[in-house]
Amino acid sequence: MEWTRKDLLSLYDLSAEEITFLLDTAAEFKKVNERNVKKVPALRGKTVVNFFVEPSTRTRVSFELAEQRLSADIVNMQAQVSSLKKGETLLDTVRNIEALQVDLVVMRHSATGAQDFIAKHLKCGVVNAGDGAHEHPTQALLDLFTIREKRGDFKGMNVTILGDILHSRVARSNMWGLLKLGANVTLAGPSTLVPKEFESVGVRVCHDLKEAVRNADVVNILRIQHERQTAGFFPSTGEYAKFFGINEETLKYMKKDALIMHPGPINRDVELSTGVADGPQSVILEQVTNGLAVRMAVLFLVAGCVKK
Ligand code: CP
Repeated sequence: MEWTRKDLLSLYDLSAEEITFLLDTAAEFKKVNERNVKKVPALRGKTVVNFFVEPSTRTRVSFELAEQRLSADIVNMQAQVSSLKKGETLLDTVRNIEALQVDLVVMRHSATGAQDFIAKHLKCGVVNAGDGAHEHPTQALLDLFTIREKRGDFKGMNVTILGDILHSRVARSNMWGLLKLGANVTLAGPSTLVPKEFESVGVRVCHDLKEAVRNADVVNILRIQHERQTAGFFPSTGEYAKFFGINEETLKYMKKDALIMHPGPINRDVELSTGVADGPQSVILEQVTNGLAVRMAVLFLVAGCVKK
């Protein structure tokens, strides 16, 4: 197929064919990352601005490294020392960036829809590196890549996403991607963090940990997102860990070969014990490794659609 989008904003927007094409392209870039010389000239002469208006370790470093491996010129912008602090609007800020003949803006923002908004106003490409509790498309793509690499075809696969679903952009992007590729998706956690309303999009909602993980081929465990919670959604982190934490005891309810995933950062011994996070079923660091290839694929494909 031919890639036709200058922006990557969500997995909700993409077809199964587009997602598969992205994963196949990432598989080629993974081979580049395993060579002695890990650099290709695919984005030589292109300029990418990384604009993170919210903290990040994995996504920011992974995008920057992906851009370097593609030979792009890179500018890293920090919101705290930008003119946003002087009252400039987000749109004025990004229009000024574009006026410098930039090809791509990779942005993380705490406001849902911020990237969709700027993409409508810019000719350059926009890549969503996470917007509020809405979407984190490259995280979901690297999760899908890792699952496909380990387990093959998604059709009929049981994937449980466990934790703070309400506040999670990772859950939403994963859910759309998995459903489009034919997986059975269970969203699990306390009823305050996993509303029944999600069932209307074709997922199973489960508030009992044992039941949620029993038949899972993959359990993707999410961080409790204290920074986005405006109310007490559960009595204490200790209580959460007791009823919904994955540890050596709760691992016994699962299939022996179920994959344990987590997008990071981990609250160790809250949603996931150290023993399981670092244990043989965990693919958490492989997710990070695959993220580099996935972001190279995304940057390569969207850059090819930016009209100058
Ligand atoms: N998974 C993820 O988005 O991590 P960062 O917030 O560190 O980028």
